[in-house]
Amino acid sequence: MSFFSGMFSTKKAASPSFEAALAAGEYKVPKHLAIIMDGNGRWAKKRHLPRVAGHKEGMETVKRVTRLASKAGVQVLTVYAFSTENWSRPNDEVKFLMKLPVTFFDTFVPELIEQNVKVETIGDIDRLPEATKQAVIEAKADTAQNTGLILNFALNYGGQQEIADAAAALAERVAAGELQPEDINKDLLASELTTGFLGDLANPDLIVRTSGEERLSNFLPYQAAYSEFYFTDVFWPDFDQADFEAALAAYTKRDRRFGKVKA
Ligand code: FPP
Repeated sequence: MSFFSGMFSTKKAASPSFEAALAAGEYKVPKHLAIIMDGNGRWAKKRHLPRVAGHKEGMETVKRVTRLASKAGVQVLTVYAFSTENWSRPNDEVKFLMKLPVTFFDTFVPELIEQNVKVETIGDIDRLPEATKQAVIEAKADTAQNTGLILNFALNYGGQQEIADAAAALAERVAAGELQPEDINKDLLASELTTGFLGDLANPDLIVRTSGEERLSNFLPYQAAYSEFYFTDVFWPDFDQADFEAALAAYTKRDRRFGKVKA
């Protein structure tokens, strides 16, 4: 470990036998893992770097975690890449964040194809700058046939708006006489959310948030009703295999009862 990495690193070594532990069934693996990737700005500040340097490094962490999630057998990995509230950040930062998907897919789609990973998105991608939107559309098309991990980017996503949009869509169907108000139930509403295409996998089993913040920040509020939460102080750019294993280990110990009593 270099002086520099030692100075900033907070952790324990990655287990060399992660694959062995997975093969032995030592981890309960969430089918849908969702991540609030927080702390990029603070990671950069700590190094006297501009905030965007944290986002750039954070992009590398997305690659690392995609590989780990795929290896672990996670079926859906949803990452909160840009919220509807993030538009109010300084212009230069927004511009940089909008370029990241282009760089990410330019450099990573061949590996995603090799790893059988399928790219999906939730959120309103129509309002993204044209180049960003095109990069996303191409990445989805290039990986559409893949059957492994679904790497789902929340891009220009806001959970409350998503619920309002679903309610409006159902209200229109009622107004058109296609639906009765009493036909509306939680499953029908869920099918109208932008995660509807995920079917049974729409609700995250585990939501991880990095950087010590402990809130949802408008991320999947409907879908998170029974999610487990895992918070870590680690800044997203530093989130590594050991942190991933720690999150899985914590999830493995959780007793999920979904409001019922244990049998
Ligand atoms: C939160 O950190 C992070 C974001 C708002 C952006 C997340 C984007 C990435 C991790 C890059 C990956 C994106 C793609 C498309 C691969 P923050 O800036 O709020 O950090 P702070 O709270 O320390 O200021």
